[in-house]
Amino acid sequence: MSHIPPFRGAIITGASRGLGAAFARALAADGTRVLLVGRHKPALDIVVEQIRAAGGEAHAFAADIADKHQTHALAAAAEAQVGPVDLLIHNASTLGPLPLRPLVELSCEDLAAVLETNLIGPFRLTKVIAGSMALRGRGTVLHISSDAAVNAYPGWGAYGVSKAAQDHLARSFAADFGETNVRFLSVDPGEMDTRMHDDAMPGLSDADRAALGRPDEVARRILASLREAS
Ligand SMILES: NC(=O)c1ccc[n+]([C@@H]2O[C@H](COP(=O)([O-])OP(=O)(O)OC[C@H]3O[C@@H](n4cnc5c(N)ncnc54)[C@H](OP(=O)(O)O)[C@@H]3O)[C@@H](O)[C@H]2O)c1
Repeated sequence: MSHIPPFRGAIITGASRGLGAAFARALAADGTRVLLVGRHKPALDIVVEQIRAAGGEAHAFAADIADKHQTHALAAAAEAQVGPVDLLIHNASTLGPLPLRPLVELSCEDLAAVLETNLIGPFRLTKVIAGSMALRGRGTVLHISSDAAVNAYPGWGAYGVSKAAQDHLARSFAADFGETNVRFLSVDPGEMDTRMHDDAMPGLSDADRAALGRPDEVARRILASLREAS
């Protein structure tokens, strides 16, 4: 019997590196057609080529998730290249200005920019993708969250506020979509050895870095729990 992937078509934002690239590799290895989204096409193309070399189907779409004018083009590219999307992973994220600093040292524009990428962008994309999931009676929208959504850490305010709001966005969409069989989930991946972690906490010792999660392992674990939950 031929293998039927749990997800046929997936959009993964922030898929040029780190956890997003790991999701794309793991899904494609399982037979899912994946659309990788990020702002820099050359970086996306490297991951796409890796996936294709391993026998998977992947496509790159360069877009800034914070730019509302790119949302519909992204959805159209997904429909054309990976077919009906039954998994949308909101993984792209920004920390805001670096180094991290107290909220009082941020401008309103700094906070708004973090919310545009981490909250409003995912909101817009869900709006254009989840309706057709509901019509087909099948779909998963996964938000990548953080423990900063529930714990307040000095300097992490803008990011933490955006992640807390994103968690509630997922709960609110779930309430609105009711019995449509579209799932909205938030998952905290834990600390991982990625550029974002390095940006937030530069200069870790080798021992501290070695204790961080590996994105490929984290992605496989999250996808396995999604399959179990379904
Ligand atoms: N690393 C950790 O320890 C950790 C812990 C808890 C939660 N998380 C969460 O895990 C997720 C993945 O993080 P990561 O550590 O893998 O980050 P990362 O290595 O910095 O990768 C971030 C990805 O997002 C893309 N991106 C950033 N801004 C974007 C935008 N405006 N539009 C489109 N793409 C954008 C980046 O590509 P471009 O720059 O080319 O656009 C890149 O592909 C995030 O949601 C993060 O909050 C991470």
